[in-house]
Amino acid sequence: MELTDIKKVGVVGAGTMGFGIAINFALWGYPVVMSDLSDEILKQSRKNIKSAMSLFVEEGLIARQQTDDTVSRITMTTDLVEVAANSDFITEAIVERSQDKRELFNKLDKLCSPQTIIVSNTSGLVLSDFASDVGRQDKIAVTHYFAPPHIVPGVEVAKGPGTSEETYNLTYELMKKIKKVPIRVLKEMPGYLLNRIQGAMSREANRLWAEGVASAEDIELGVRSTFGFRMPHEGPLGHYDLAGMWKWPADVRTRSRQSEPGPSAEVTKKLGERWAQGKPWFVDSEKFDEAIEKRDREYIQRLKELYWSQEK
Ligand SMILES: NC(=O)c1ccc[n+]([C@@H]2O[C@H](COP(=O)([O-])OP(=O)(O)OC[C@H]3O[C@@H](n4cnc5c(N)ncnc54)[C@H](O)[C@@H]3O)[C@@H](O)[C@H]2O)c1
Repeated sequence: MELTDIKKVGVVGAGTMGFGIAINFALWGYPVVMSDLSDEILKQSRKNIKSAMSLFVEEGLIARQQTDDTVSRITMTTDLVEVAANSDFITEAIVERSQDKRELFNKLDKLCSPQTIIVSNTSGLVLSDFASDVGRQDKIAVTHYFAPPHIVPGVEVAKGPGTSEETYNLTYELMKKIKKVPIRVLKEMPGYLLNRIQGAMSREANRLWAEGVASAEDIELGVRSTFGFRMPHEGPLGHYDLAGMWKWPADVRTRSRQSEPGPSAEVTKKLGERWAQGKPWFVDSEKFDEAIEKRDREYIQRLKELYWSQEK
């Protein structure tokens, strides 16, 4: 199967995530058939689609004509058979309950053509939790969007134990085609990458608040005005580069810092070996000054936009 063989897509579940996922595909030319349990829910979903698209136009992201085209590409139904019959690629975005997802995946497996790829937008479960009975093990995967899915660019693309390379690569390429930023998750892992990283921060924030180290307001303010401010430019690994930590003496570099509980011995060893190389993850150390200037220009734009140009 080639990317060009994916001509029509389906979305099952038209709630908070489903309507935005449908927009992603319809905006970039795919006819979408979306289903949910009742006409009432679908009516609300269509309203959500229209107001999301109006905001895109108001903000100058797309032209009015693109809105009309996008909306007209999305059809709604309560009949799963219709979704199955009209989709080469289906995204499941129903309630996060493994029994419900299991039933749905098994139904779709029976109803869809053998070629159809079925992916889940589950945020916490993995395919082994609910898709183990599905016949087409090679044609199922996960695309984990972040709310609001029609705006946030990143989407984790994860495999189940039987996902074929072909399905995985097609799903990855399809995300690029609809202008998302696909992120490869290489092993089946509950919470994937990003909910785990986000969860680690939340755990620590909750603990610091509960122990009375800071108020909830100061925790929020602190994160947003410091590393949150930097984050559109650098993640937790890239930060190591731009903060110049790779230039620190090895003993200082490898010392475990304030985090508690500290990393496991295995993680400490692996990171120690990496850090002992004394080189950045991403930045060319010969072009360090250029990278810093690029970063600072971006930061200044954000400083102007978020802090200096208007009262917030
Ligand atoms: N909300 C988020 O921020 C977020 C982020 C990433 C992933 N997710 C995941 O996306 C999925 C959907 O979450 P949501 O927030 O959109 O939930 P939601 O409750 O807003 O929407 C789920 C929709 O699925 C419908 N539904 C339930 N069972 C169905 C079935 N058998 N067939 C058809 N429709 C069915 C419901 O009627 C509802 O409209 C979940 O797996 C969730 O974990 C959510």
